[in-house]
Amino acid sequence: MAGFLDDIEPLKQAALADLSAAPDLAALEQTKGTWIGPNGRFTALMKQLGTLTKEERPAAGKLINAAKVELDAALSARREDLELKAALPKEPTDFTLPGRRRAAGKLHPLTQVTDDIVRAFRKIGFAVADGPEIEDEYHCFDALNTPADHPARDSQDTFYLAGAAGAKPALLRTHTSSVQIRVMKSQPPPVRIIVPGRVYRRDNADATHNPTFHQIEGLYVDKNVTVGDLKGTVEFVFKELMGSDVKIRFRPHYFSYTEPSYEIDFTNALVKKMGKDWLEIAGCGMVHPQVFENVGYDPEVWTGWAFGFGIERIAMLRYGINDIRLFYENDARFLKQF
Ligand code: DAH
Repeated sequence: MAGFLDDIEPLKQAALADLSAAPDLAALEQTKGTWIGPNGRFTALMKQLGTLTKEERPAAGKLINAAKVELDAALSARREDLELKAALPKEPTDFTLPGRRRAAGKLHPLTQVTDDIVRAFRKIGFAVADGPEIEDEYHCFDALNTPADHPARDSQDTFYLAGAAGAKPALLRTHTSSVQIRVMKSQPPPVRIIVPGRVYRRDNADATHNPTFHQIEGLYVDKNVTVGDLKGTVEFVFKELMGSDVKIRFRPHYFSYTEPSYEIDFTNALVKKMGKDWLEIAGCGMVHPQVFENVGYDPEVWTGWAFGFGIERIAMLRYGINDIRLFYENDARFLKQF
């Protein structure tokens, strides 16, 4: 009994020294096995309890259990220390270094150009309106005075959507002009709106065409509105957008919903650099009296103008982009440049 009791303290001290010297978690597990695992040296001593007499056992058991509690506590404490050490960086940390900056996203170049155009029009009192991309023939063509045999209505040019037999055909709008009709039907004059939005045409994609692209429509209805107002407004907006060296030219043209109608040509240093004198950029004109009739405005009282231009065209000119398809490829190497 005396020998047994005398063994406890030195064995415990040796185990404690070993545990606190374990250099890492793997070594600590090994040390644990050596001492208090199933075949450990301290475990062996505990097993000897059974060889003691009934009278000797309680005092010896109390001592050895206290030692075991101490060893378990030492094991946990060392494990915690080593886990903390393992989690710390190996290299010294310089807490004065600047933080890592998260790359901020950017607006798509077409969105940037759209926002700038909208901003310019807001300065002169225009509000933004919108309408559906899935349209019907009435809003896209009929109410705009576009005859049934007009080539734009041909399925060669327009995406028609399959619908129930007998239902009026649905189509993807070919221009934002359909929203003119929706806005005028929903409110009395005066009207001062712009409509940015996506349009669809059955074009094959090449450097200057894509089956979907974006337009901005404008509509101004009031009393005594003139072509001079139209030209002044377009000139103001393009100067805001592209700089004060911009020049605008109106060329007579035909649209079924305006009379007279014009195409707007645009020039500045960039256009000259491309080796051209003028670039066609928009269609416009004075709202046709028949369109006013169709929406229930009195053409004897109200006058107005409308225009529509392609946003891609303007963005390409502004940023010197030579292929429209680049806008839709979502290639970050391209998009990051704007
Ligand atoms: N809708 C025409 C197009 O897509 C552009 C246009 C021309 C719009 C004349 C107008 C306008 O509002 O008055 O080519």
